[in-house]
Amino acid sequence: MERFARIAGWGRYLPAQVVANRDLEGRLDTSDEWIFSRTGIRERRIAAPEETASSMGLAAARGALAMAGVHPQELDLIIVATCSAERVFPACASLIQHGLGARTVGAFDVNAACSGFVYALSAGHQFIASGLHRTVLVVGSEVFSRLLDWDDRATCVLFGDGAGAVVLQASEEPGGIRSCVLGSDGSGADALYVPGICASPLEAQRNGHHFLAMNGPQVFKFAVRTVAEATRQAAWQAGILPEEIDLFIPHQANARIISAAAEALGLSQEKVFTNVERYGNTSAASIPIALSEAAEAGRLRDGDRVALVGVGGGLSWAAMVLEWGPGAPSYNPE
Ligand code: COA
Repeated sequence: MERFARIAGWGRYLPAQVVANRDLEGRLDTSDEWIFSRTGIRERRIAAPEETASSMGLAAARGALAMAGVHPQELDLIIVATCSAERVFPACASLIQHGLGARTVGAFDVNAACSGFVYALSAGHQFIASGLHRTVLVVGSEVFSRLLDWDDRATCVLFGDGAGAVVLQASEEPGGIRSCVLGSDGSGADALYVPGICASPLEAQRNGHHFLAMNGPQVFKFAVRTVAEATRQAAWQAGILPEEIDLFIPHQANARIISAAAEALGLSQEKVFTNVERYGNTSAASIPIALSEAAEAGRLRDGDRVALVGVGGGLSWAAMVLEWGPGAPSYNPE
């Protein structure tokens, strides 16, 4: 029997501290006008010292489980997309598993930078479609504020912290995830990266630090082209035309990248969800945060065809089309 994977619940967590562009004007040679006109970002959230990728992911996961009406002990697998976890190992997923009080099921992290959540969701989908698992938790959580050089105006203004999560459940009814497109081009590895703490000493000397490095114009061009192309492929795989997408939820890196890609796909602004203005780029957390806000704002109705697409370090990309609904049970954060 064919198994379908549906999103049964969603949740998000944003740190309380808001840092507006104007707050950065005082300490960097930048302006609200420059940042907003180039990126669409007005403010971002920054994690408190005690907050980590696992603590924020745990909070988002609790919300998603409560909404789905799923007890942590019912989970068969936990997948976390992150590249800013507090430990090189164990996986952030193991820390979240313990925090939830889940069974000793499989738990692993996915590192595909800003494409990570859609990669993780694709993996969860495969475990359900194969019949191996029925209930999978997929989390995206990032503390990019700790990967940034706060004296580098070209990068630090772009990113923020946060977490989002969904519960995927098996269903015999057709629907849910209908296509997955994954891609990676390691020849672009130098365009966007963070040196690891295990980097060769020669690499560390070259960079002199462990902060995010980026070739902005190269990444911009790659992102515009790839968001549109990967979405087209995902739509084709799902048997629909790009213009038949009801809601487009792209990775929230830059409002100009999003609108250029939406235009290339023939999607009007009403079909595009953006919240980059309030959170900046939260990497692997951006799509589940956006998805949960779109659902709560009533932007998703049963039967809607939703396209998710992430692009980022790798260079990597991941896109999928899913059919929304039937809706999760009424929201109960307890
Ligand atoms: N405030 C003011 N000036 C800044 C600045 C800031 N925060 N950051 C950079 N600048 C300056 C640069 O120093 C440069 O000055 P120069 O021309 O004197 O050398 C100038 O602004 C560059 O301006 P411009 O060429 O107009 O910038 P841009 O339109 O290429 O925009 C980015 C720069 C970074 C916003 C853009 O390239 C981008 O969004 N790239 C993709 C980044 C991204 O999304 N990464 C994550 C993907 S997952």
